[in-house]
Amino acid sequence: MLNIDKTVKIKGIGKKHALEVFLFGDMHIDDKGFYGKGFDRMTDDIMSTKNSLVIQMGDICDMANRRTRQALKAQLEVGGMEDVYIALDQKANKAEAEAIIRCMPFSDRFLYGVIGNHGWEYYNIGADYGKSLDQNWGDALGVPLAKALATVRIDLKCGLRTASYRIMCRHGNGGARTETGDHNKLQKELEQYDGVDLFAAGHTHHHYAHKIRPRVLFSKCGEPISRNLHVARTGTFKRNIRKSAMDPSYEEIAGYSPAGLGYIKAKIWLARRRRDGVDVTYTQSEVVAVPID
Ligand SMILES: [Fe+2]
Repeated sequence: MLNIDKTVKIKGIGKKHALEVFLFGDMHIDDKGFYGKGFDRMTDDIMSTKNSLVIQMGDICDMANRRTRQALKAQLEVGGMEDVYIALDQKANKAEAEAIIRCMPFSDRFLYGVIGNHGWEYYNIGADYGKSLDQNWGDALGVPLAKALATVRIDLKCGLRTASYRIMCRHGNGGARTETGDHNKLQKELEQYDGVDLFAAGHTHHHYAHKIRPRVLFSKCGEPISRNLHVARTGTFKRNIRKSAMDPSYEEIAGYSPAGLGYIKAKIWLARRRRDGVDVTYTQSEVVAVPID
């Protein structure tokens, strides 16, 4: 598990001084359905937010080593495996370069990334053999990557006042579920851990942020604090209903639901209140699913 701590200095107490954490995943940048305009819109949103941080949720590209290789090999009438390796490495390389360029504007705001179930390990006979597309992306942008779970504890600091907020993420696994089944799975995971405020995952291309029943925690001086907890699925940037019926996606052929296009925005701020003369500082949050279609 990757675990990082981050301290963020903010100018004041209250929502107007909030920090905003953007969570996006499932770009599938090399897929025909990749929605670049939607990604631009998120980039503008990140860049125009003063206090913003970013988490990448996996599935940068659409390739998946074994399946992609087998599919291409089945289509090829001539050529041996070496041709297949070269063709696929080139395709992956292009996707990697595009993903780096796309994420470059906000590279200094990344907290971490998680690795998805789509990716590519290069054949590249030579020094780069086995290097992954995700790892290269992370190295180029200076983003730490987690293979499974990743958490960050963000300490919001304003003068002598400080309180923390924890976000836990993983890419996700498993097949399609109903929307409630999908939510329940995340909520069960959140409840396994103590002190997680937001549990987020990608993978299913569902897109929502749900506030669940608040929990009571106790401050350092024993005062009860009601905390808003959330679960979220981060959506995708891959349209699965194409512009032309002549060129359907495999999701259309299979009759899947439309993908949830968008990203997640978690607004986190310092709050304070007095109870029987005791001053309590804590974090408060609002998490929303931002659509891009
Ligand atoms: Fe995905």
